[in-house]
Amino acid sequence: LKVGVLCGGRSAEREVSLRSGEAVYQALLNCGYDVVKIDVGFDIAEQIKQHQIELAFLALHGKYGEDGTIQGLLELLDIPYTGSGVLASAIAINKITTKKLFKLEGIPTPDFTVITRNEVSNLGLDQACKKALDLVGLPAVVKANTQGSTIGISFVHQAEQMGAAIEESLKYDQDVLVEKFISGMEVTASVLGNQDPVALPLIEITSVTGVYDYQAKYTPGMSDHIIPPRLPEETQNKIKQLAVKAFQVLGCRGLGRVDFMVQGSEVYALEVNTLPGMTATSLFPDAARYAGMEFPQLVDKLVKLALE
Ligand code: DAL
Ligand code: MG
Repeated sequence: LKVGVLCGGRSAEREVSLRSGEAVYQALLNCGYDVVKIDVGFDIAEQIKQHQIELAFLALHGKYGEDGTIQGLLELLDIPYTGSGVLASAIAINKITTKKLFKLEGIPTPDFTVITRNEVSNLGLDQACKKALDLVGLPAVVKANTQGSTIGISFVHQAEQMGAAIEESLKYDQDVLVEKFISGMEVTASVLGNQDPVALPLIEITSVTGVYDYQAKYTPGMSDHIIPPRLPEETQNKIKQLAVKAFQVLGCRGLGRVDFMVQGSEVYALEVNTLPGMTATSLFPDAARYAGMEFPQLVDKLVKLALE
């Protein structure tokens, strides 16, 4: 089976994706696959044909990789690929749509409102800030709707910071998610499988600086993974159940990582990452390792799931 590892691409998470791609490429080689690594550009359709790949292993993150677009192209070309299909990918990349579905399905998620670029143009930044502060309050997290790796995210503790936070997120997206900040423990749940997905061991995330941002995520030593999290069994089970439910509500396949905030016994789902990071310091491979699955075994499993 000729496997193409698709990585790189045009998203803000390009660098992370190149690292995921290299790690996956090496692991697939270890497993004995005929494998080629492809940096995704405008000629991706030609590259896929030229290399005659029979399966695409997606090590892409963010726009044009995690959002259903590459999945659509691969559907058209009739090439199987790892991870979720077009619709689940397109929903999950959209934090706002995801949270609306969470609400509809009874999956707890922090209160939020949406500020659009249009609103800011029409009403002005002050009115947009007022809306965010009235509806969500402080502290808040302001997020670009469709970014990953904490790009375009600000934490707002004082009302005066809201305007700059909204403007920062608007650099990346026309829609901004303003979410109530839940202070507590950050926990992530890796979900693996197709029809009967299972939650892998949970990971508590701590960061040297207190914020699990881009730097903390990708600089070794800047963040720590604690497995299992320092939470009662009961809370862990609740998180696992909610993670599997979120995965299924969105219609995910193969793999996904659901991020949570935990405050006491309250648990809040933030989002689903349909192509979670696969670098050496990434969370999903760590969870799998803790469950007894080394990295090459994990990528092999993902290939098998793609072919099911
Ligand atoms: N968006 C990054 C790659 C992650 O979720 O791991
Ligand atoms: Mg994400």
